[in-house]
Amino acid sequence: MKILVLGGAGYIGSHTVKALCDKGVQVVVADNLLTGHKEAIDPRAKFYLGDLRDGAFLDDLFAQEQVDGVIHFAAFSLVGESVFEPLKYYDNNVNGTRVLLESMVKAGVKRIVFSSTAATYGEPERVPILESDRTCPTNPYGETKLAMEKMFHWSAKAYGIEFVSLRYFNACGADESATIGEAHQPESHLIPLILQVPLNKRPQVSIFGTDYPTKDGTCVRDYIHVTDLAQAHILAMEYLMGGGKSDIFNLGNGVGFTVREVIETARKVTGHPIPAVEEGRRAGDPAVLIASSQKAKEVLGWNPCHDSLEEIIASAWAWHKSHPDGFTEGAGK
Ligand code: UFG
Repeated sequence: MKILVLGGAGYIGSHTVKALCDKGVQVVVADNLLTGHKEAIDPRAKFYLGDLRDGAFLDDLFAQEQVDGVIHFAAFSLVGESVFEPLKYYDNNVNGTRVLLESMVKAGVKRIVFSSTAATYGEPERVPILESDRTCPTNPYGETKLAMEKMFHWSAKAYGIEFVSLRYFNACGADESATIGEAHQPESHLIPLILQVPLNKRPQVSIFGTDYPTKDGTCVRDYIHVTDLAQAHILAMEYLMGGGKSDIFNLGNGVGFTVREVIETARKVTGHPIPAVEEGRRAGDPAVLIASSQKAKEVLGWNPCHDSLEEIIASAWAWHKSHPDGFTEGAGK
């Protein structure tokens, strides 16, 4: 089996590339390195530098590498940025996916697994959230991911492409080797921001909102380990290879933790007091996001095994402690 991983130099992409290589799958990575890191790409994979929106690049790639399927991570993913620069998100996420689909149709590549997000739901109707629940994004990032899902839906009907869309909840943690992990520039996610305090990179962490209708007033999220996400992509591709039909799956642990609980667990893991300051709510944050991943478990046979928050944070801490400045190259470095 040969798989093309678009965005294989990014956080979840690089973990999936490693997991595929560990399984003996032939992996081809394409990435424009705008937010990804070359150093994060497993050396067993073949790397092409190029952009999703470049149809000629993709056509050449499909001509050179006879791939059996595509796993697509190549998208911008910062909620806050998407509000201020929506067209950047429509261009890369929606237009880029359109170019990719055109190239796949031309090359006769019929299977694709891609990253979607809990942000497609917006403010949930209920928790845990089911895949069939209302999708009503509250930011352009979520809108572009939903538009991508719809583009795949109609392309599946028209061109016989089969897709799996994986709606991640809060991706976190790092590979047990601690050689790859989360490295965003600038960092905006809770766990890496918390861990910057014991690394002496920031004096304190902010708590955005303490008046939510939750047990301690702070937002509740479903934190899912990145290597469990990586396994889900492999299972989804195997499902498609086995004749599985196009579908959408949530990926989370089904357990929610408050911001205060995450900070407290990080204090325990790092042994650092990690001062926290209470601030106002961040715009667009739903109070509670928890996945029902029953469907992924039943249909794909997914079995997330890192369900302890302490273990998740410990794996992130091992990565950040050994790479306090992230990767040494790529993403503008
Ligand atoms: N938070 C803080 N302080 C910080 C940073 C975050 O209190 O310094 C809080 C946020 O308000 C939120 C929680 O910590 O309640 C988690 O925030 P993250 O930014 O780490 O993650 P989000 O839940 O905002 O975002 C995640 C994914 C997105 C996805 C979104 C769906 O990272 O890709 O869920 O809502 F779009």
